[in-house]
Amino acid sequence: MMPSDQWKPLRWKDIDAEQIKIVSAVIDKIPELPVHVHKILKIVSDIDSDAKEIAQLASSDPVMVTKILNVVNSSYYGFSKKIEDVHLAIVLLGFAEIRTLALQTMLTQSIGKGNVYAGYDTRNLWLHSYQVSVCSEAFVGEKNPKMSGIYLALGLLHDIGKFLLCNIAFAMKQKRIKPKSVTTLNQDAAILEREEHLFGVNHSIMGVMLARKWGLSDRIASVIEYHHYPSYFDLNEIPCEYLEDITSICIADHIINYLENKSSMHPIPPESFFNLLGFTLPVENVITVDIRKKIEKAKSFLTYIE
Ligand SMILES: [Fe+2]
Ligand SMILES: [Fe+2]
Repeated sequence: MMPSDQWKPLRWKDIDAEQIKIVSAVIDKIPELPVHVHKILKIVSDIDSDAKEIAQLASSDPVMVTKILNVVNSSYYGFSKKIEDVHLAIVLLGFAEIRTLALQTMLTQSIGKGNVYAGYDTRNLWLHSYQVSVCSEAFVGEKNPKMSGIYLALGLLHDIGKFLLCNIAFAMKQKRIKPKSVTTLNQDAAILEREEHLFGVNHSIMGVMLARKWGLSDRIASVIEYHHYPSYFDLNEIPCEYLEDITSICIADHIINYLENKSSMHPIPPESFFNLLGFTLPVENVITVDIRKKIEKAKSFLTYIE
């Protein structure tokens, strides 16, 4: 189906001044991103950063130290002796795991966790975001291993706007405000359509506004803003500078939803986007045994880092 005959989500340019004011009022209440989270994001997204920098940062944060020791002593790793030395724990866990742990822990502290209401569940959101990052890393990993940290950051942050909607939904619950009925919508309505029906905006717009407030990089902000465009809009509406990043996150997102039987959340992007990454349709062609294994491993790892 061509994007032209589908429902299409709101874009930044479709939002009027009044809506911007309302969304800005919500965003204004979110605290600035702490300096140490900026620092970890910078280190993780820097293709030349090394394990030492991450280890130093992780071992200087008390919350991180506790988390690292909990994870290394969990049944996931199954070491017979209790490990109390954080430096040893860092070596045993490994660079990629420490990086994930550090970024996820610090982002969770900034945006919250544990709220569940009206279909919004921050725990599932983190799991989804982490799985998208692992899947998109796997797309580029072999071609360019230095990009894996960047994809970790892009994947973890791509749906950051959903955390805001989740917080709004939770605040509505506390004030006993019932969400507007979505019964007038078609059963298969995409999640973006439901969000616009409930909140007047979708998570991509909320997310990019937060990314700008937090001063996140242009690359991260663009992925947040455009990550659903391949399902709805033509290629020329996407900034070409970040086309590969946006396409990777979009297709990884689609794969994770497909594996969770949630493929009706967004229409499948046209094959031209799959071709950009060297893939062909159907989507099963992309899901190799290796990708499936990595996604499964990500799922069990995340249960131990909470
Ligand atoms: Fe999304
Ligand atoms: Fe997503």
